[in-house]
Amino acid sequence: MLLLCVTWLGLVSLGWDQGCSAVSTTRAQGGLRGHMQRDRRNIRPNIILIMTDDQDTELGSLQVMNKTRRIMENGGTSFINAFVTTPMCCPSRSSMLTGKYVHNHNTYTNNENCSSPSWQAQHEPRSFAVYLNNTGYRTALFGKYLNEYNGSYVPPGWREWVGLIKNSRFYNYTVCRNGYKEKHGVEYSKDYFTDLITNDSINFFRMSKKVYPHRPVMMVLTHAAPHGPEDSAPQYAEMFPNASQHITPSYNYAPNMDKHWIMQYTGPMRPIHMEFTNFLHRKRLQTLMSVDDSVQKVYEMLVESGELDNTYIIYTADHGYHIGQFGLVKGKSMPYDFDIRVPFFLRGPNVQPGAVVPQLVLNIDLAPTILHMAGLDTPPDMDGKSILKLLEQEKTGNRFKRNRKPKVWRDTFLVERG
Ligand SMILES: *[C@@H]1O[C@H](CO)[C@@H](O)[C@H](O)[C@H]1NC(C)=O
Ligand SMILES: *[C@@H]1O[C@H](CO)[C@@H](O)[C@H](O)[C@H]1NC(C)=O
Ligand SMILES: *[C@@H]1O[C@H](CO)[C@@H](O)[C@H](O)[C@H]1NC(C)=O
Ligand SMILES: *[C@@H]1O[C@H](CO)[C@@H](O)[C@H](O)[C@H]1NC(C)=O
Ligand SMILES: *[C@@H]1O[C@H](CO)[C@@H](O)[C@H](O)[C@H]1NC(C)=O
Ligand SMILES: *[C@@H]1O[C@H](CO)[C@@H](O)[C@H](O)[C@H]1NC(C)=O
Ligand SMILES: *[C@@H]1O[C@H](CO)[C@@H](O)[C@H](O)[C@H]1NC(C)=O
Repeated sequence: MLLLCVTWLGLVSLGWDQGCSAVSTTRAQGGLRGHMQRDRRNIRPNIILIMTDDQDTELGSLQVMNKTRRIMENGGTSFINAFVTTPMCCPSRSSMLTGKYVHNHNTYTNNENCSSPSWQAQHEPRSFAVYLNNTGYRTALFGKYLNEYNGSYVPPGWREWVGLIKNSRFYNYTVCRNGYKEKHGVEYSKDYFTDLITNDSINFFRMSKKVYPHRPVMMVLTHAAPHGPEDSAPQYAEMFPNASQHITPSYNYAPNMDKHWIMQYTGPMRPIHMEFTNFLHRKRLQTLMSVDDSVQKVYEMLVESGELDNTYIIYTADHGYHIGQFGLVKGKSMPYDFDIRVPFFLRGPNVQPGAVVPQLVLNIDLAPTILHMAGLDTPPDMDGKSILKLLEQEKTGNRFKRNRKPKVWRDTFLVERG
């Protein structure tokens, strides 16, 4: 039984009965092998963060991502209670980069201060990329950065930089490629944004290992999908004609007099709105097919290059989404599960395939976790914690067993929105 209590601009607290508080059990043999290989090569693990924009977990978007689920859910550990502390693009992304709640990094809770001078002066130089670059990682970002990023500079810490200027698009966009602006049009084979991210990141990884075989890579793939304008690849444009996973129990359940004021004034949708929700859901799923292909291609590249066992892959999103829930036609930014819950998978050295972790993990945990993977401590000014601590093993006799002692871990977190 999961208890979730939310107050707007308040604390979310989550408790379990005893039945689900135990982290699952045994440990894969593969983990030990990976560990020994890493020691032999004496290099630190590669780290790949794959992020989508506006991807729900509650509306079934992962159901269509068979490749991603095989690689990340079957091949990795699922964090089934993963949340963001601010269900808005730019603040959530800033929190991922800094490991801090939004009230601690001055982008505040809307896009006005996104990528602002104070962000650039005080917080951007303390992103996880800066720490990893300083310790010898080859760092790279491909895709959407912060919504107001205008391409006038390359943020510190990133050796390879292909950052989208402004908000998500699939065609007709400009990226800043290592300081130079590169315009893209509407030709699928040259311009489709999801595929550009996939191709560039794979090329960077391969090239990096060729030129610097002993240096670890940390790269971020930050996709625009399934965010608007929801342009799918042409080969997927007819898929899911009648998809209906978005018709959840809270779909069109409105008004809600027990919720915050906006919900008291939001009535049921009209038929035209409901038709739109069906259309939108379908378009979003179509865009995710290219992300699914991307995950598979990155995975195959790691297998081919012999780096899979020495690479952590994290898959998550900047926040969730609603399509008709509580009568809200579409969007995010609400303090309810559909907007604050995100997909969260981790695979890599010593991470048990197929395991499920019920503890609360947050977007502010990404930076401390990535630092931990690189062998670095969490800086005292970060609010999040390394989720690797939830996976730590205890050596008993001559074999490893998962530590069954109760962990000190959070049971509460703050959800913020201006
Ligand atoms: C995913 O796998 C299921 C079960 O094999 C299959 O029915 C479904 O068509 C697949 N979905 C896609 C989008 O390939
Ligand atoms: C954020 O933006 C608001 C409105 O433009 C401005 O008043 C405030 O000073 C900005 N804060 C920071 C930290 O840049
Ligand atoms: C881009 O942003 C920087 C600061 O972030 C600002 O100084 C510059 O004027 C902006 N350039 C354009 C073309 O908007
Ligand atoms: C990466 O770190 C090195 C060594 O600290 C530094 O010289 C270099 O400027 C950094 N590069 C970036 C892109 O931040
Ligand atoms: C791209 O821009 C062209 C020219 O401005 C426009 O005709 C076209 O509709 C745009 N396509 C997309 C997918 O944004
Ligand atoms: C990505 O690479 C594939 C395979 O080489 C190619 O077919 C496709 O046109 C490329 N797409 C983009 C946007 O670069
Ligand atoms: C989708 O729904 C329409 C209208 O209900 C129906 O005519 C059509 O056969 C359905 N298509 C599929 C592939 O199920």
